[in-house]
Amino acid sequence: MHARIAGVGACLPGSPVGNGDLVRRGVDTTDEWIAARTGIRARHLAGEGDTTSGLAFEASRRALDAAGMAASELDLIVVATTTPDFIFPGTACLLQGRLGNVGAMAFDVQAVCGGFVYALIVAEKFIRSGSHKKALVVGADIVSRILDWRDRATCVLFGDGAGAVVLGAADSPGILSSAAHADGSWHGILAAAGQARGGRIVGDPFVRMDGQAVFKLAVRALSEIASECCESAGIPPSGIDWLIPHQANVRIIESTAKKLGLTMDKVVVTVDHHGNTSAASVPLALDAAIRDGRVRRGQKILLEGVGAGVTWGAVLLEF
Ligand code: UT7
Repeated sequence: MHARIAGVGACLPGSPVGNGDLVRRGVDTTDEWIAARTGIRARHLAGEGDTTSGLAFEASRRALDAAGMAASELDLIVVATTTPDFIFPGTACLLQGRLGNVGAMAFDVQAVCGGFVYALIVAEKFIRSGSHKKALVVGADIVSRILDWRDRATCVLFGDGAGAVVLGAADSPGILSSAAHADGSWHGILAAAGQARGGRIVGDPFVRMDGQAVFKLAVRALSEIASECCESAGIPPSGIDWLIPHQANVRIIESTAKKLGLTMDKVVVTVDHHGNTSAASVPLALDAAIRDGRVRRGQKILLEGVGAGVTWGAVLLEF
């Protein structure tokens, strides 16, 4: 039994907010700095009424449409998020309720920007075991709610969104190989270290980051995991049609591609128009590349993510 992508969908809230708009809103930055250091030109920010489960719902609806599948057919729902609607119940159950599905196993994965790839790997294992046949895998985050808008070193980097993939059982792959790791000794370089206690937030609930440490670690993790995944599938990086890496910073993406010996015309970059959307970043980029015709059926795609934890992982698949 193998797992194959049956449909992909995405959702970005509201209208794009350009770098200049952040300056006008009072952030001490410039369009030139953000564009040169990160490649980001705009991001989408959730409105008051938006929820993570709501963005996940829109992306899921589109993925189910693309797969020609009804929500009632799903037997597994996995949502990767770091910004759930509530402490509990899980966002996957809230999404399930909105979709009108009853009975599927539904749970969240918390691996921050590595979350979507983690969730895809988990869902693939369920399908390969034969226990489940139709899985919805979602990456959704409203990071803007945990940003300190006075901290220009972080607030300009992130955006909100959701991406979803329907994974179905198939006789042939599908997913060819996967790999994922974590190293908790790095938990301090990127964190929102607050908690709800006794009705109050204790600690610092905002995203804090040692940018340069994260940058170096991200390039190493993304290049090593891509090589590991390719090696286990017996396919060299040059045999990949498209690399779809976590969209945090175009310089991280370029350095990763260089280490893998790939030219940028084989790499999907969408960070320019939505910034770092955490768990949504990889499926948003996959969705964009499918819709603009770059990613086509039969091609070999390498998806990879890295995030706080530190967590990182990759999935090599035939689309
Ligand atoms: O999912 C993973 C999440 N995180 C990431 O992927 C982030 C990884 N790291 C990065 O992308 C980069 O480290 C950053 C884009 C965050 C920063 O780039 P950098 O080249 O490492 O800059 P820096 O932190 O060394 O800061 C250079 C200067 C500093 O000024 P001084 O001390 O040299 O005078 C900062 O204060 O840039 C200043 N700076 C800014 N200036 C204008 C920092 N943020 C801003 C800003 N606008 N938004």
